[in-house]
Amino acid sequence: MRPARITVVISGRGSNLVALIDAVNAGKIAGVITQVISNRPGAQGLVHAAKAGIATRVVDHTKFASREAFEAALAAAIDDGRPDLVVLAGFMRVLGADFVRHYEGRMLNIHPSLLPAYPGLDTHRRALADGAKRHGCSVHFVTPTVDGGPIVAQAEVPVLPGDDESTLAARVLEAEHRLLPDIVGRYCAGRLVLDHGNVRIIDTRTAADRS
Ligand code: GRF
Repeated sequence: MRPARITVVISGRGSNLVALIDAVNAGKIAGVITQVISNRPGAQGLVHAAKAGIATRVVDHTKFASREAFEAALAAAIDDGRPDLVVLAGFMRVLGADFVRHYEGRMLNIHPSLLPAYPGLDTHRRALADGAKRHGCSVHFVTPTVDGGPIVAQAEVPVLPGDDESTLAARVLEAEHRLLPDIVGRYCAGRLVLDHGNVRIIDTRTAADRS
């Protein structure tokens, strides 16, 4: 099986991207990150990608007159990389239904909450305000419903007495850095598929071949 071609799409810091780069370099993901695309020119993640020798591109949403035009340019950039898998790793734009459908079953997102709890923004603040005892992160296939696609896996962390938004975010982020590479590794090994809208984890012995 040839290595999976991965495009990572980001908006900012890129710590999840770094976790993926590290996992690829450690041989834990049977794939190659062929390009990193950011909608923000100043994203720190672009610097991490360049340092790792990965091609970078910016598709700046502020330069487009409409969401459709932005998404057409983003899709063209992604498709240029002929990806087997697209990973949204801290990508902070809502994507339209047509765009998302084009990547059905091959686009994963990491979200900092135990979905379906707290879709959208400010998840840590909202969990604290609710007095939640547990929090965490989810990896899901992307569908037109924001943060609503089929959940692949979750990692849970406790909410501890005295936590504030930053201590809780840091604890969740550590969990993200374990969960995302693990799931991307499974996908690239052919052990994770979206089958008619259902997540299917496949036994290693019957893993699908990618030629
Ligand atoms: C992460 O918490 C991710 O779950 C969320 O945005 C944050 C991005 O962090 N969608 P980073 O850019 O990967 O450091």
